[in-house]
Amino acid sequence: MESIQDFQPWEKLHRQTDLSNNRINPSPIILDFLSRNIFPKINSSSKEQNCLEVGVGIGRNLICLAEHNYCGNYFGLDHTDEALNKAKQLADSKGYSNIFHFVKGMAGKKFTFENNSFDFVFDIMAASTFIMGDNVRRAYAKEVNRILKPGGIFFVFTGNTDSDYFNQLSEQRKGSEPGTFRRSMDGTMEKSYTKNEILSLYAPLESIILESQSHYFRAFGEQVLTRPGGFWFGIFIKA
Ligand SMILES: C[S@@+](CC[C@H](N)C(=O)[O-])C[C@H]1O[C@@H](n2cnc3c(N)ncnc32)[C@H](O)[C@@H]1O
Repeated sequence: MESIQDFQPWEKLHRQTDLSNNRINPSPIILDFLSRNIFPKINSSSKEQNCLEVGVGIGRNLICLAEHNYCGNYFGLDHTDEALNKAKQLADSKGYSNIFHFVKGMAGKKFTFENNSFDFVFDIMAASTFIMGDNVRRAYAKEVNRILKPGGIFFVFTGNTDSDYFNQLSEQRKGSEPGTFRRSMDGTMEKSYTKNEILSLYAPLESIILESQSHYFRAFGEQVLTRPGGFWFGIFIKA
């Protein structure tokens, strides 16, 4: 199967999500990223830097980055209007209207951004996880490389097939493409990666950190999602 998944399930999930505290609180994933003190190898002040979150959802990660004065401009891309409307509402309520920019777009297709636009690109349980089809994922990875500035940072949080979680999944949940399975919450297909797969997908970006983790903190549904060893926490740099 080679496709970007239907966005209808995401519209539904976003419609059902209210902007209550436990949804907009900073995700521990982005706090973990911040604690690593990883910065682009670019000679500019943080105020001049741009970051993009692909699959921004309700925008909780960008809000957290803004609260830490991480960059000058924050771009959020998502393929659902519901997500973008909620993210904009949240950013406006925090007084960030002038530094937040929301763009409707589909990762896997060409982005509208110029080459070398971003100091940081974030993909937290988003495009890498939900694009089906190797060709589409490769097209997406190429776009990430294109829009990052030389010295820029790509942070990805996605599924890990080298894990007890994946090994114990029932065959009925698995998809035809290696590493894919239906998530229990709503049957949406996810892609997980071996270490070599993820390194090869994002090459020529160079890996700085690639470690397995066991917890994600959902923007929807029950908030803590535990999968023993089932996630990759990956930080890459564009040489
Ligand atoms: C699980 S949510 C994560 C949201 C956010 N990254 C967070 O951690 O709070 C996944 C988001 O990615 C978006 N998404 C999934 N596939 C996408 C694609 N191919 N292009 C753009 N957005 C996508 C969905 O609409 C959804 O908002």
